[in-house]
Amino acid sequence: MSRIVVLISGGGSNLQSLLDQCQSGTLNAEIVAVISNRPDAFGLSRARQAGVKALTLDHKGFANRADFDRSLADLIDDQRPDLVVLAGFMRILTDDFVNRFLGRMINIHPSLLPRYPGLNTHQRALDAGDPAGGATVHFVTTQLDGGPAIAQVEVPIDAADDAVSLAKKVLTQEHKLYPVVVDWFVSGRLQLDRNQAVFDGTPLPKSGRLLDTATL
Ligand code: GAR
Repeated sequence: MSRIVVLISGGGSNLQSLLDQCQSGTLNAEIVAVISNRPDAFGLSRARQAGVKALTLDHKGFANRADFDRSLADLIDDQRPDLVVLAGFMRILTDDFVNRFLGRMINIHPSLLPRYPGLNTHQRALDAGDPAGGATVHFVTTQLDGGPAIAQVEVPIDAADDAVSLAKKVLTQEHKLYPVVVDWFVSGRLQLDRNQAVFDGTPLPKSGRLLDTATL
């Protein structure tokens, strides 16, 4: 069974969705450890509750980003993962770190990439008058939020939406999207090949595969 390490910084609702699907057997994988850079991240309690190893590596204890990333990479390697899943892990990563896990590290980002890399994605979508927000799962490369997209979900924006309501709606879809992509990876259907996401042997479109929220 594939071994997964999940990195978090906060609430860990995406982590919860993955834990649930591993527990129910929908996802044929084992989350062998959850690592947070914040000692107070609620996601750590979610891991413990599920009987999963919960580790903290506080970035505040390190002199610089490179030192932290090296220790984090060593800690991840100790868990012998097949896949590293970033689930609300709010750190900019050094190139050395990213390259150590290239092709076996994915991230979920709350926008329809390539629109709105970085922070405040929902407010930016609202300010631009976009008809929809959404989320993207992508391979992590040295380009911030810019690695090859794997899959997206779109969430229509209503006139009454603000950043909070939109974030909530998108997050609900993230919980469905992320396990699907993790399943693709652990079942051997998904690879990173020369900076291109490949699914069932076919290169995916630039923005990844658009999944229909109704069927997720
Ligand atoms: C999610 O919306 C995720 O897409 C976002 O943080 C939230 C974490 O929620 N990630 C990023 O913004 C990464 N750049 P969660 O802790 O409840 O899963």
